[in-house]
Amino acid sequence: MGICKSAGLPVMVLVIAVTGIRGQESAGNLARKRGVYVGAAVGGAFWGSDVRYKDTLKKEYNIIVAENAMKFDQLEPKRNLFTWKQADDLAAFAAQNDMALRGHNLVWHQASGWISQAAAGLDRIEMQGILKNHIDSVVGHFQGKILEWDVVNEGLDDASGGLRDTFWRQRIGDDYLDSAFTWAHRADPKALLFYNDYSGEGMGGKADRIYALVKGMKDRGVPVQGVGLQCHFASAKSFSVADIDLNMKRLGALGLRVSVTELDFRTALPADSAALAVQKDNYARLLAVCLANANCKSFLTWGFTDAYSWVPDFFPGQGAALPFDAEYKPKPAYQGMVQALTDAVGIRPALRPGPVRSQEVTLGFLRGSMEYSREGTPGSGTRAARNALGKWMEPR
Ligand code: G3I
Repeated sequence: MGICKSAGLPVMVLVIAVTGIRGQESAGNLARKRGVYVGAAVGGAFWGSDVRYKDTLKKEYNIIVAENAMKFDQLEPKRNLFTWKQADDLAAFAAQNDMALRGHNLVWHQASGWISQAAAGLDRIEMQGILKNHIDSVVGHFQGKILEWDVVNEGLDDASGGLRDTFWRQRIGDDYLDSAFTWAHRADPKALLFYNDYSGEGMGGKADRIYALVKGMKDRGVPVQGVGLQCHFASAKSFSVADIDLNMKRLGALGLRVSVTELDFRTALPADSAALAVQKDNYARLLAVCLANANCKSFLTWGFTDAYSWVPDFFPGQGAALPFDAEYKPKPAYQGMVQALTDAVGIRPALRPGPVRSQEVTLGFLRGSMEYSREGTPGSGTRAARNALGKWMEPR
């Protein structure tokens, strides 16, 4: 954001900078005002030549996550050989554009490369050493840059209801989850550590098992701070916002955050206007329920343009799941998100903005008198500036 000294210009520059395409205030800037993060997963097109990809991201959002670039096989393609380039590019892009960054993920049974093959010949001690080295290296490398880490991804088994019988569990034992969170916390004590999974968004069997899992961790003193609700939904499938609300609240009562981490609403192709209207309603209602719960601070879709989405590859005949169409035009779904954020702004103004660059500290002072803490007490200019200087000063 440029600071112009000529009379009249500062306001104009500010307006241009805070509005996304179409002159409408972007979801990202509405999120900043609301003290939350709204964003998307970034896939391979980020490193391609289509400038619309990065332009849309930085104009419309205030948080990103790597769709694949921070997975085990991408960061450690050979034992103890780390490749940071793509993930570093994302971290730099986030910092340059005042966006927060999620980390996805440290431990998963998929996208694990060589270790999934090597595991059979390794014992508990060796596997622990490999996992600790990966976590120490990766979390340490990005220390101070990651708002939320998905430490363990999809660690529960759908059929048995117990822990998924991954090669991590087979070689290390059930305590691999506790260890992973503990090592991640030591490597970056300020990063918020999440357990991330699918099909556990609302109340029900899987949600109950996730609740029991993280409650057990809390009871044992394991440093877990949040649960990621993936939210890969089919538009036609009914989902209960009321149930999601209840689940967010009971996890909040444990002292945990919840984040919507991988939202998409797939629909049959070609998507007609009725399907897109349903999709809009679903996007709006889900973001509204997140905004209504103080422990839900991050809301991310899994990609943002229908030009690049995992859905058509995994669900043939389905797609059109994201807020922007393949030509980067905002869909009704995006307008639904903007509407939910607009409705929320002003209801409960947030004290703590997202990550900021130094020139925004001045704005922090200016905004101070209008800001309120989470409890609704008036903020001060000094406090606002202090929070602008200290990134993500959320109590945990
Ligand atoms: O990049 C290679 C390319 O060089 C090669 O030609 C091509 C041939 O198959 O594969 C490409 O890699 C693929 C990669 O996506 C990038 O497109 C992998 O095969 C493919 O397995 C990988 O799929 C990803 C999947 O996770 C597995 O890591 C999807 O993009 C990604 O959207 C998906 O994300 C998961 C979350 O991490 C966890 N929750 C569910 C979500 C959706 O499945």
